[in-house]
Amino acid sequence: MKLEEMNSKIGEIIKKLTLEEKVKMIHGDALFYSGDVERLSIPAVNMSDGPMGVRQEFPKASWLPVGNSDDFVTYCPSNSAIAATWNKDLAYEAGIVMGQEARGRGKDVILGPGINIKRVPANGRNFEYMSEDPYLISQLVVPLINGIQESDVAACVKHFALNNQETERLWVNVEIDERALREIYLPGFEAAVKDGKTESLMGAYNLFRGKHCCEDKSLLKDILRDEWGYDGTIISDWGAVHDTKAAAESPLDIEMSVTYDFDDYKLANPLIEAVKKGGAKEKDIDEKVRHILLMMFRLKMIGALAGERKAGCYNTPEHRSKVKEVADESFVLLKNDDKRLPLSDKNVKELLVIGDNAERLHSSGGGSAEIKALYEISPLMGIKSHLGGNTKVTYKRGYYVSPKEESQESWQEKSTDENLDQSAVVNARKQVSDEIRKKRDELRDEAVKAAAHFKDVILVVGLNHDYDVEGFDRDDITLPYEQDQLIEEVLKVNPDTVIVVMAGNAVSMGKWKDKAKAILWQWYCGMEGGNSLADIIFGKINPSGKLPESMPYKMEDCGALAIGEYPGRPLNDEEKKRMNAHITEEYKDGIYVGYRYYEKYNVPVQYCFGHGLSYTSFEYSNISVDLDETVIKNAKDKYFDGDEIILDEKIKNDIAANVFCSVKNTGEYFGKEIIEIYVGKNDSHVDRPIKELKGFKKAALEAGRECRASIELPLMAFSYYNKEKRAFVAETGKYQIYVGKSLQDIVKVCEIEI
Ligand code: GLC
Repeated sequence: MKLEEMNSKIGEIIKKLTLEEKVKMIHGDALFYSGDVERLSIPAVNMSDGPMGVRQEFPKASWLPVGNSDDFVTYCPSNSAIAATWNKDLAYEAGIVMGQEARGRGKDVILGPGINIKRVPANGRNFEYMSEDPYLISQLVVPLINGIQESDVAACVKHFALNNQETERLWVNVEIDERALREIYLPGFEAAVKDGKTESLMGAYNLFRGKHCCEDKSLLKDILRDEWGYDGTIISDWGAVHDTKAAAESPLDIEMSVTYDFDDYKLANPLIEAVKKGGAKEKDIDEKVRHILLMMFRLKMIGALAGERKAGCYNTPEHRSKVKEVADESFVLLKNDDKRLPLSDKNVKELLVIGDNAERLHSSGGGSAEIKALYEISPLMGIKSHLGGNTKVTYKRGYYVSPKEESQESWQEKSTDENLDQSAVVNARKQVSDEIRKKRDELRDEAVKAAAHFKDVILVVGLNHDYDVEGFDRDDITLPYEQDQLIEEVLKVNPDTVIVVMAGNAVSMGKWKDKAKAILWQWYCGMEGGNSLADIIFGKINPSGKLPESMPYKMEDCGALAIGEYPGRPLNDEEKKRMNAHITEEYKDGIYVGYRYYEKYNVPVQYCFGHGLSYTSFEYSNISVDLDETVIKNAKDKYFDGDEIILDEKIKNDIAANVFCSVKNTGEYFGKEIIEIYVGKNDSHVDRPIKELKGFKKAALEAGRECRASIELPLMAFSYYNKEKRAFVAETGKYQIYVGKSLQDIVKVCEIEI
């Protein structure tokens, strides 16, 4: 059905709706669905978290889950894991699984993917996000959305925008330079809207330039609606709406929250009152209803196509094999001296596995991203299953994690309390009683003693959802539970120990990474994670992931702390009152986020963006760059301004250059290689990062085989955002094109001139 046809039908429906009915549609009528209008057969919009699969069922008005037996689901790899694959096809497949599962569970909207920039390595929710690099995000979020929306389910890309920390997440005001906003924090969302055609988007908790995101016109209207032409639905984060009038006048369409007083939500009875008193306009409400009805038509929830809506399915074998494929390609081999990996799985008589993370299941943690997984294969189970019964696998916990007291109260019900004491939780988890320390010493001694007597030892360490968790940032990136001491002592007695780090975010490895021979990075990568780990350790799968984020030695090394103002400074009473906020933070790190900062400011990192090894080796050759002079000439003829080309929508995606590179698999394993293309301009007349990711290609090659890869560079690859011209522009002059295996492992630099 064409848009104008939908719009005219929508116009007719809106005419029939009463004010009360319209208002019922634009706020939560339950924790996870908005109001329906039975009289006109308008259904509720059923939503469910989240970025790693479909969350368990909750009652209308309680954060204690229903506890059904029929809402176990496929536990999918985190968005960080998907990003680490650098594989657009797999991102699409992951989306297909999540979309089918959401439809299968009767949902209309899945509240993911999460694509906020990983600006601070300590952000508790980074495991739900993809990367520090906007280009990598924009290339992977689009297929992910396409996959989800194949099943007539709306993706809900979150959290728009600048929700880059959990510290005071509802009350932090972000001040940011326009160039950093445009070059770093918006591109992922812009791609999701323009290329991914996301049907919905979630407004963030924090403030943007003095206004709460869900009530802000500059973000939601000027940029999202007017500039990007977004006509999908904007859903607030749960409890992100504070003011009836502001929310009514903003382009926000649906207010959701964590409390049960649905009729007292800001866009509920208070809005009806406001309209009656002339404080709010009914035509603003009509606009919200319009976007909701448009989404319903597009999802085939209503209208002539409703009978054709996809049914979806969940917990299928196909989903589980897809999830394993994604997990397989998400692992990052950080180090492999002496080809320590893969281990042989032939006639292995015994093996020692150490680490609480070897046994721990993570699916049910993390906050709103929690998953009631049909099952979850731990590393220990994956390893034992792979080796079978002829191998004696000994397990030692190695480090002690205090059990989480099961509170009857739900964390989420309290999650938006203005006086939530986050530091109490952050400090509490660092308290170590004598009893706990004694337990840790015992477990460590036992593990170290054992490690001295085994040839092969696999030590699985890292974080868990006590630290990778919504609502709290870490206050440093060292490994908790005294794991560093365990790792150092195990390596001392057994230097061949294979270290597996499982986490959703950077951790300090500085104390021991130079002493270890093999280090393998594992994200929270879904229900098949343990099987993928085993397949990789024993060589059935050759790891092909590369880091979508830098691994700094310590938190203070990152730009947000070194030159930025993370976590922000307290507001004075006047500011607090005016903004309804607690702290404010100037993103003084600007565009220098992640590798852009570390490289520009010469800050060494443990492992750089784009790093990832393989069991085989790849040789690059015949690297060249062809410039398309006609595209350049056309752009200059029509859009030249001073000494810059204004990258108008009409030309910004025109292919200006093609990078060619031959890659040969020179080892003895089948493998996949990610070729990375960075662009820099060392004589730019503006301040720029040394180089920025602007292209990549993943090639699969049998041993001995070679392929010729070509990577297209649109005009946008040469751009920076010019604040005065309020546009992306491309300077004329020379550019450096870096072709490499990672940010730092550059094979060749070519120079072209625009
Ligand atoms: C949470 C999160 C959001 C989630 C929503 C519903 O507070 O910020 O990502 O989708 O509320 O659980």
